[in-house]
Amino acid sequence: MEKVVNLCKRRGFVFPGSEIYGGLGSSLDYGPLGVELKRNVKEAWWKAVVTRRDDVVGLDAAIVMHPRVWEASGHVEGFTDPLVDCKSCKQRFRADHVAGPKCPACGGELTEARLFNLMFKTYVGPVEDTASVAYLRPETAQGIFVNFRNVVETSRMKIPFGIAQIGKSFRNEITPGNFLFRTREFEQMEIEFFVRPGEDEPWFEHWREERFRWYVDLGIARERLRLRPHGPDELAHYAKACADVEYQFPFGWSELEGVANRTDFDLKRHAEFSGKDLSYFDEERRERYVPYVIEPSAGADRSTLAFLVDAYDEEEVEGEARVVLRLHPRLAPYKAAVFPLLRKEGQPERARKIYDALRRHFPVDYDQAGSIGRRYRRQDEVGTPFGITVDHQTMQDGTATLRDRDAMTQIRIPEDRLAEELRARLSGAPG
Ligand code: GAP
Repeated sequence: MEKVVNLCKRRGFVFPGSEIYGGLGSSLDYGPLGVELKRNVKEAWWKAVVTRRDDVVGLDAAIVMHPRVWEASGHVEGFTDPLVDCKSCKQRFRADHVAGPKCPACGGELTEARLFNLMFKTYVGPVEDTASVAYLRPETAQGIFVNFRNVVETSRMKIPFGIAQIGKSFRNEITPGNFLFRTREFEQMEIEFFVRPGEDEPWFEHWREERFRWYVDLGIARERLRLRPHGPDELAHYAKACADVEYQFPFGWSELEGVANRTDFDLKRHAEFSGKDLSYFDEERRERYVPYVIEPSAGADRSTLAFLVDAYDEEEVEGEARVVLRLHPRLAPYKAAVFPLLRKEGQPERARKIYDALRRHFPVDYDQAGSIGRRYRRQDEVGTPFGITVDHQTMQDGTATLRDRDAMTQIRIPEDRLAEELRARLSGAPG
């Protein structure tokens, strides 16, 4: 884990948030390479669940919603963690994360557990009174439920269908930690898939399998992934069934995504609290009902962390250590890097021309600093799947070498076929 965190800082994937002010607990910023990686994760998700399906549409709802939304959803009353205070050092802990009756930091006496609501409160408008209290959303899901009717009325989607959304969520976690794994501000990728009551169980199966496969298709080792069904004591108040996709992080098996059968709980609650009819008329069956919902709910930051951890590899090549991020080509920040072998004979100019041509199609890097070996290592370390080198022969016959990050093999390709070759290799990869 420490190696991944160091690499992230050193190579501009993830920086400590507000670092020049000493940082802010568990607030992290994505650097130039991290933002590309996370965008690619989100794009791969959107492509898999929206673009490639004809039964899911997208949405982008507001972060600050009507406060009644969170009463209806149960968050105002029940989105709490048990909190204990240390009477000596005043630190606070989640009661269920503390093993015994003593403070894990100083051994002091702990208070009785009390419930702490995780929602961030704010005020809308210029007056800070109870009438203007609002919350930063703790999940994107509710933005989907409150737009169910809008989507049904405007999109001609027929049940079974889903609504997908990617966006920031906020939780005032008592004990954030493990780098990107648990932060107070994070991004979710959620689908609410509306189905006929009675058809929920096969759809639950469908989404469990689909979502598990997504991680495998994008390169995560199957043996470090598992689907763990929740026991009855673990189920959220709204859920009939839930299964977590878990990854074996260096700190243990932990949740990447939950797939839940939320029944008709949310639509019924919003109908009750808003006074609006959120039932659905099924034309095929000529009947009206409140749909059941299957919810695959993933974290963009958590999955980015899993992709980074899983891709990290060290090996010895010709007596030297090589660090390589074996990222799936679709996730890699740069798809290729272009290098002139020498900084003379017109090679830099020729390499720049290739770089400029490729950059119109893919994110590509250019590097002419240091030995070619060091330049390859720099790209290996950030997961660039292909290296293109302009050398003496390029100047004679117009071919450049194409190096594969994982196999480290090189072949020669005519310059004008490089874009086509890269496209074929990138689209040929599964996922
Ligand atoms: N709508 C259901 C829901 O929000 P959740 O299990 O609380 O369910 C879903 O959250 C996903 O959101 C988690 O599996 C995780 O990937 C991500 N997530 C939740 N809290 C997080 C946090 N504090 N930091 C980073 N990701 C988080």
